[in-house]
Amino acid sequence: MKTRTPHAVTTGVVVRSLRPTDRDDVQSLHERMDQHDAYLRFFGARPKHLEDLAESLCLQDPRHCALGAFIGGILVGVANYVSPAHQLDNDSTPVEFALVVDHEYQSHGIGTMLLTRLVDAARAHGIERMTAEVLAQNTLMLEVIRDRGWAHALRRDGTTLHLDLDLDLDEDAQADGPSARRRPVVM
Ligand SMILES: CC(C)(COP(=O)(O)OP(=O)(O)OC[C@H]1O[C@@H](n2cnc3c(N)ncnc32)[C@H](O)[C@@H]1OP(=O)(O)O)[C@@H](O)C(=O)NCCC(=O)NCCS
Repeated sequence: MKTRTPHAVTTGVVVRSLRPTDRDDVQSLHERMDQHDAYLRFFGARPKHLEDLAESLCLQDPRHCALGAFIGGILVGVANYVSPAHQLDNDSTPVEFALVVDHEYQSHGIGTMLLTRLVDAARAHGIERMTAEVLAQNTLMLEVIRDRGWAHALRRDGTTLHLDLDLDLDEDAQADGPSARRRPVVM
């Protein structure tokens, strides 16, 4: 059984859509990532121009959706998806999502909370499928995926796992039983 060292954080977590005024906080969150987390997120070094990444994450348009988790007003996590440029209305082309949580706040349920809210937002926008690429060594992200009951949607390809999730099927599975946990954030 794994042991955890809980962080002494008592304030609540607020999740909301990112907006253009959050750009500097998004950039700073990505600058704070250590090399290993950056590798897990970007499959290599972090992008050189983090200001561009931050700007695109804070765009509010039909192709982009990004949520931020804030503790005491500090941004500690981001979940986002992007629709392919060619996606049309009524098109079931999947959107690709990604997550990042400040290293200091990992393993407290924030990634799970962000992903749950991102799926809710995707459904609200009529999205039917979500995909993600996850390195096989990314145990925390795979734990988040398995905790949600999505192990069946993972396919391994060498050092990478592809998640291809049908949101309709996921909704049915959740209605049938508590296979996917929605745990509260415990700090
Ligand atoms: C992957 C990542 C986003 C996960 O975020 P997180 O906030 O650490 O995830 P969670 O806390 O929700 O879940 C991770 C672990 O905490 C556990 N957990 C979930 N809810 C919990 C809660 N309420 N209390 C305590 N632990 C909890 C999960 O079971 C999982 O357990 P494990 O440590 O035994 O494996 C984060 O680790 C990260 O930013 N990594 C670097 C970037 C990256 O890999 N991004 C993904 C690319 S798609």
